[in-house]
Amino acid sequence: MEVFGRLLLLFSLVVAVQSTCNSTDYGLVSKVFKSVSGFNISWLKSQDVNCSYPPIKVLKLSSRNLTGNVSWKFLRNMSQLHTIDLSNNSLQGSVPGWLWSVHTLVEVNLSKNKFGGTIGFEPTSGNGSSSSMRVLNLSANRFTNSVKLSGFSKLQFLDLSHNDLGTVPSGFTNLTKLEHLDVSSCKISGSIKPISALHSLKYLDVSNNSLNGTFPSDFPPVNSLKFLNISLNHFTGSVGFDKFHRFGKSAFIHGGNFVFNTSKRTPSNHSRTHSLTPNHKVFRKHLPLKTHRKKHKANSKTKALVIGLSCGSGFLLASLVFCFFCTYRRKKLARRNKWAISTPVQPNFKMEKSGPFSFETESGSSWVADIKEPTSAPVIMSSKPLMNLTFKDLIAATSHFGKESVLAEGRCGPLYRAILPGDLHVAIKVLEHARDIDRDNAMAMLEDLSRLKHPNLLPLSGYCIAGKEKLVLYEFMANGDLHRWLHELPTGPSNVEDWSTDTWEYHHGAGSQTSSPEKTNWLTRHRIAVGVARGLAYLHHVGSSHGHLVASNVLLSDNLEPRISDFGIRNIGSKMERDDKKDEKNAEMDVYSFGVVLLELLTGKQGTEENVTWVRRLVKEGVGVDALDSRLRLGGESETEMVESLRVGYLCTAELPGKRPTMQQVIGLLKDIHPAVDFN
Ligand SMILES: *[C@@H]1O[C@H](CO)[C@@H](O)[C@H](O)[C@H]1NC(C)=O
Ligand SMILES: *[C@@H]1O[C@H](CO)[C@@H](O)[C@H](O)[C@H]1NC(C)=O
Ligand SMILES: *[C@@H]1O[C@H](CO)[C@@H](O)[C@H](O)[C@H]1NC(C)=O
Ligand SMILES: *[C@@H]1O[C@H](CO)[C@@H](O)[C@H](O)[C@H]1NC(C)=O
Ligand SMILES: *[C@@H]1O[C@H](CO)[C@@H](O)[C@H](O)[C@H]1NC(C)=O
Ligand SMILES: *[C@@H]1O[C@H](CO)[C@@H](O)[C@H](O)[C@H]1NC(C)=O
Ligand SMILES: *[C@@H]1O[C@H](CO)[C@@H](O)[C@H](O)[C@H]1NC(C)=O
Ligand SMILES: *[C@@H]1O[C@H](CO)[C@@H](O)[C@H](O)[C@H]1NC(C)=O
Ligand SMILES: *[C@@H]1O[C@H](CO)[C@@H](O)[C@H](O)[C@H]1NC(C)=O
Ligand SMILES: *[C@@H]1O[C@H](CO)[C@@H](O)[C@H](O)[C@H]1NC(C)=O
Ligand SMILES: *[C@@H]1O[C@H](CO)[C@@H](O)[C@H](O)[C@H]1NC(C)=O
Ligand SMILES: *[C@@H]1O[C@H](CO)[C@@H](O)[C@H](O)[C@H]1NC(C)=O
Repeated sequence: MEVFGRLLLLFSLVVAVQSTCNSTDYGLVSKVFKSVSGFNISWLKSQDVNCSYPPIKVLKLSSRNLTGNVSWKFLRNMSQLHTIDLSNNSLQGSVPGWLWSVHTLVEVNLSKNKFGGTIGFEPTSGNGSSSSMRVLNLSANRFTNSVKLSGFSKLQFLDLSHNDLGTVPSGFTNLTKLEHLDVSSCKISGSIKPISALHSLKYLDVSNNSLNGTFPSDFPPVNSLKFLNISLNHFTGSVGFDKFHRFGKSAFIHGGNFVFNTSKRTPSNHSRTHSLTPNHKVFRKHLPLKTHRKKHKANSKTKALVIGLSCGSGFLLASLVFCFFCTYRRKKLARRNKWAISTPVQPNFKMEKSGPFSFETESGSSWVADIKEPTSAPVIMSSKPLMNLTFKDLIAATSHFGKESVLAEGRCGPLYRAILPGDLHVAIKVLEHARDIDRDNAMAMLEDLSRLKHPNLLPLSGYCIAGKEKLVLYEFMANGDLHRWLHELPTGPSNVEDWSTDTWEYHHGAGSQTSSPEKTNWLTRHRIAVGVARGLAYLHHVGSSHGHLVASNVLLSDNLEPRISDFGIRNIGSKMERDDKKDEKNAEMDVYSFGVVLLELLTGKQGTEENVTWVRRLVKEGVGVDALDSRLRLGGESETEMVESLRVGYLCTAELPGKRPTMQQVIGLLKDIHPAVDFN
């Protein structure tokens, strides 16, 4: 009886408290979350329930494992609500448009939930015509419909990333105060142009959509931006040296078909070659860019050549990737099949009788071979010393280095394709950065480089010094790079539709290759891994190193033999000072990079830091098998081999450089797992 009495007393107290509290914001809040499981009103109150609490200004319920529907309507009567943070829960349902016009509300963070529906509101007259919102974070939700932003004229931070918006939000013209915009990964297609109205913008991320438009003209004033990421889109346009260096390679990677006017020089008026007719459009190139790895600031001529050369291989790579994967429209392809391997460029130009010879590229840069006789500059072919080619043959094979022959153009000068006498298919790179290096030094360097030969390194096949210009020739490889093969090329005919569109397509030489069924074969991947390991081991053996091995630096030959490109030729010049400590450090870095590539080969996932951490954790926990690429035929003996190979990747990516194996040891480990099958 006594117990009952106490209970009754307690009950009446609770009721009393509740009834007086219903009129406060706390009562409203508990109604807001009445359909939400996991919510506990006592989070908002201190120890004793005291109803004279002031009105709630900040509602912060981040990472509380809340699920269910928010009853938004009860928020309407909260008189001083300023901030709502419900981020990182599992809340669902749509958000009513009137919420944004609650005039006290300034900051809303609903990121990482399951909210859906439309964002925005139709401004009406009177109150509710505009929003006071300054910070709005709706990232990682399920918002789908078009976003109307015209009412958010006070907005400074807007994060809509990781939703399924589909179209570009409307009303950007009214967002005159917006400084931070993130609409990455929103599956948006269409033109970027509306965003160009944002004149206060400092941070812009539009990556991973299907946006089109021209860079930089369709963008907000780029010069006031501190951060830019336009990667993974379908833009066109040109990227200047300054922008490339300011925002970095990753800002533009796979951003579309850009021309990189990355030469520092201003366009020259001396050129007297081709002029473009208005409808003579030159294709924009899709360049996977290389970061500028100038560690040392030394200005030595040798260094300039070294950089020039490494650019050379970078651009070769660019061209190959472009060549194989260029995302041209099919019709354009049919019209202008300049990448067809089988048809040499027709010499439809007039050759000047005597030099100097001046050549202009589309970006407006030009280069001049200051020689009288075009036959006076020999092409020195390391593989075919008896060919007796001269600069004149290069002019002929490239239509006077005409625009039709340009494969890529960028930071270090243009890259041309040519078929030389004897059906020799090459890529020719003009090393614009190496102009000031004298002839003897240049020859010594180039000779050194062409001696660096290994089946798994992309070789320099020749060079030509014409006046101040140094041209290098590489074997032309039409099979693209490992990154594309692994991550972007469809596996087989059956999942061609995985490749996102039917208007864009791969182009492989004269024909078109749309898939690579070999990708499902573990032994193919193992062979690639062993090949890359061998190439690196060779570089280390001769006292060099690569410096930035990534999957896109690994080119694939016709029979999928890997060939490492863009390898460090920084250390091989006899004029360069060697630093053994640094060499060792670089080698250890290479081993790490190799480990990442190996993990990519095994998991089919990109070699991001995050993925590496993830795989390493699984391997450590003994469940490496969970990380394996499901496109590989799993099961049986090969699965065991793959898991063992994962362990090798684990060793290579050890945090402490000293704990990593050498490349020679890695080859041994990989061959122990499966005897290497040689190519050919
Ligand atoms: C207070 O709110 C509760 C539910 O939240 C309700 O059951 C009760 O009737 C309300 N009391 C008054 C006086 O409004
Ligand atoms: C709410 O939280 C208080 C104190 O944090 C706790 O005593 C109470 O049991 C919680 N209520 C529920 C339903 O979890
Ligand atoms: C309620 O809180 C106020 C201060 O916020 C305090 O002055 C008052 O005494 C409290 N009332 C009760 C019953 O605790
Ligand atoms: C999100 O919430 C989960 C638990 O629900 C927590 O483990 C995680 O750390 C939270 N993330 C952030 C970024 O707060
Ligand atoms: C979150 O809540 C669900 C039930 O709603 C529960 O099963 C789960 O364990 C909770 N997770 C955490 C991290 O508290
Ligand atoms: C949330 O609301 C939607 C409709 O508005 C309903 O279909 C769904 O079942 C509700 N979920 C919960 C957990 O109440
Ligand atoms: C808000 O307050 C008004 C009166 O102040 C009342 O009529 C209305 O029902 C309240 N709305 C909600 C959702 O509580
Ligand atoms: C939103 O919440 C997340 C954590 O859940 C936090 O990282 C982020 O900074 C918050 N954003 C804003 C604008 O408050
Ligand atoms: C929005 O929230 C996400 C995650 O909750 C966070 O990563 C991001 O930085 C936030 N954006 C802004 C602008 O604060
Ligand atoms: C309309 O806005 C003013 C301030 O701009 C505010 O004081 C007033 O309460 C609002 N009226 C309504 C009905 O929201
Ligand atoms: C948006 O801007 C247009 C013109 O700049 C203006 O007419 C309109 O009233 C603005 N809308 C809002 C809601 O501020
Ligand atoms: C941009 O994309 C939209 C929708 O995909 C398309 O209608 C439009 O023609 C494209 N514009 C250009 C210049 O390609």
